[in-house]
Amino acid sequence: MKKQTSIRLLLYTLCVCILFVNCNTKKETKKVNASFISGEKWMDTDSLHINAHGGGIMFYNNTYYWFGEHKVSGREGNTALFGVRCYSSTDLYNWKNEGIALKVVEDSISEITKGCVIERPKVVFNEKTKKFVMWFHLELKGQGYNAARTGVAISDSPTGPFEYLKSYRPNVGVWPMNFKEEWKKTSEKDTISNKWWTKEWYKSVEEGAFVKRDFEKGQMARDMTIFVDDDGKAYHIHASEENLTLHISELTDDYLDFTDKWITVAPAGHNEAPAIFKQDSVYYMITSGCTGWDPNAARSFKSSSIWGPWESLGNPCIGKDADLTFNSQSTYILPVQGKKDAFIFMADRWKPKNPIDGRYIWLPIKVIDGKPILKWHDKWDLTFFDK
Ligand code: GAL
Repeated sequence: MKKQTSIRLLLYTLCVCILFVNCNTKKETKKVNASFISGEKWMDTDSLHINAHGGGIMFYNNTYYWFGEHKVSGREGNTALFGVRCYSSTDLYNWKNEGIALKVVEDSISEITKGCVIERPKVVFNEKTKKFVMWFHLELKGQGYNAARTGVAISDSPTGPFEYLKSYRPNVGVWPMNFKEEWKKTSEKDTISNKWWTKEWYKSVEEGAFVKRDFEKGQMARDMTIFVDDDGKAYHIHASEENLTLHISELTDDYLDFTDKWITVAPAGHNEAPAIFKQDSVYYMITSGCTGWDPNAARSFKSSSIWGPWESLGNPCIGKDADLTFNSQSTYILPVQGKKDAFIFMADRWKPKNPIDGRYIWLPIKVIDGKPILKWHDKWDLTFFDK
């Protein structure tokens, strides 16, 4: 009897030891990332491909939270079949899956019904309300890209669940602050030319033909980002007017609404995918041209005020594939915490036929002679900013 018990004890101890060794080897063999390798498959801490496209990053309580479009394979994977996924990280290299932060719903009446389009989600923390606010480009199910709305959701926790509030065609019935008095007097029909891309047509867009067209129903809102300034004011920046012109709009103090203060930027310039950062009191913006999922040459702008005038600085990329933004399109510019003048250009290399396989391009930005400069790096890490 005694012998049997000691054999059992021995076997039990052996099992525990095997389990312990197994767990430990697993931990040791787990790949710990320490650099950025753009264009490679990026794995999360469960060794699954990070699924957060067209994303944005919020820093809260010593943690970065990356929100992005959860894509699946196949063409319909470009629509929202799950929602917005969230990952967390303390070092920007290793990301833990925090699940779906904003879920699409099975209710066909809802604006965020499964199969709608949710793109470029951006989350910000509101110091006054202590709420997390998510904005995103919303297209209603079955309407292609015609709805051109911006949606907003709210949460008490950084990882969600976010509660969907509403969507907008912003700035209904308000003129932009940089709109000339004389332009207000003419109607859209007086100025808009039927033939696009002619000299007259460019002039009519510059003089607000599309702003007038959408004055009553609200301005179109497609590719977007949110920027929170040092004074806590937040701005919604989006491609509008059939993607011809960028609009910058101030948000209310709770970040849930528009204040009616807004401007147009680069009318008829055909900019989308806006991403913005501020260094030494100067605002810099990087955008793309409009070629759908295909890459094109990025553009850059600067201004000493969010309200412009925004000066065009041309393509910020240099080197091989600079004319295609290294085969990617901007989505967000991330300020690295605790480092001065350290910004990461985040972009997507889209795979429209197999969207889940879209890749992430992260590159350091350097402002040289008052211009943001982007160079390709096969592999880099945050010590880049210490040099
Ligand atoms: C891109 C845009 C993406 C997505 C795509 C659809 O230009 O940046 O976010 O909207 O068009 O074709």
